[in-house]
Amino acid sequence: MKFGTKAIHAGQEPDPTTGAVMTPIYQTSTYWQKSPGDNKGYEYSRGTNPTRKALESCLAALENAQFGLAFSSGMGATDAVMKLLMQGDEVITGNDLYGGSYRMFTRIFANYGIKFHFLDLSEPDNIRHYINDKTRLIWIETPTNPTMQIVDIAAVAKISKEKNLLLVVDNTFASPYLQNPIDLGADIVMHSVTKYISGHSDVVMGALMLNDEDLYKRLWFIYNACGATPGPMDSFLVLRGIKTLHLRCC
Ligand SMILES: Cc1ncc(COP(=O)(O)O)c(C=O)c1O
Repeated sequence: MKFGTKAIHAGQEPDPTTGAVMTPIYQTSTYWQKSPGDNKGYEYSRGTNPTRKALESCLAALENAQFGLAFSSGMGATDAVMKLLMQGDEVITGNDLYGGSYRMFTRIFANYGIKFHFLDLSEPDNIRHYINDKTRLIWIETPTNPTMQIVDIAAVAKISKEKNLLLVVDNTFASPYLQNPIDLGADIVMHSVTKYISGHSDVVMGALMLNDEDLYKRLWFIYNACGATPGPMDSFLVLRGIKTLHLRCC
């Protein structure tokens, strides 16, 4: 499927109840069950909602990924990734990041005993000097907000694979139209959907896209347990916004 076709159609089957071609806004918190646990795949909308599910499939397709998870903001998506870590773990990241990510790393997760190294990533080999047996994750943003510095994703992915680390790329500024980090070796792509993907300045939302099923299950657990998931109306608005992503980006 070409990018424009994915943007318009991916994840969006005609509604099984009515045949509606546009995904309905399933404005419901909970779902009828025949008996406890005997349901149609939906229990409670913090964890699963059909409108959000259609959006997540579309988001995954845009990044050539198998799985997508939508969050109530870009920071909510970042927060979920950081909750994969444990006290004592270390993260290598850039010294030029979106300010909100820097604030979360230094003023929230540093307090839980996670150590962050902020490096000049214009030369990816710098990373090698900071890897030790506590390093778990490399977080890069490229281009950076707001100074548009570039990091070589494939070069960083080579190091992360060699050292068995998770590589997460904040791809907000490039958009999936211009850059697909998973194709370059990243494990997780993060977006502030609030920006280009949504495109109309009427929704705040975040997303993670990835291929590894175990990692997806761990992130889904955090997403459902911690609850930073978006509602169906916002999911619908983003599905509609995405339909012009390829026109807005080229
Ligand atoms: C590069 C980047 N990452 C993350 C975020 C955070 O996203 P949100 O505002 O949707 O929480 C932003 C927001 O400006 C951003 O520009």
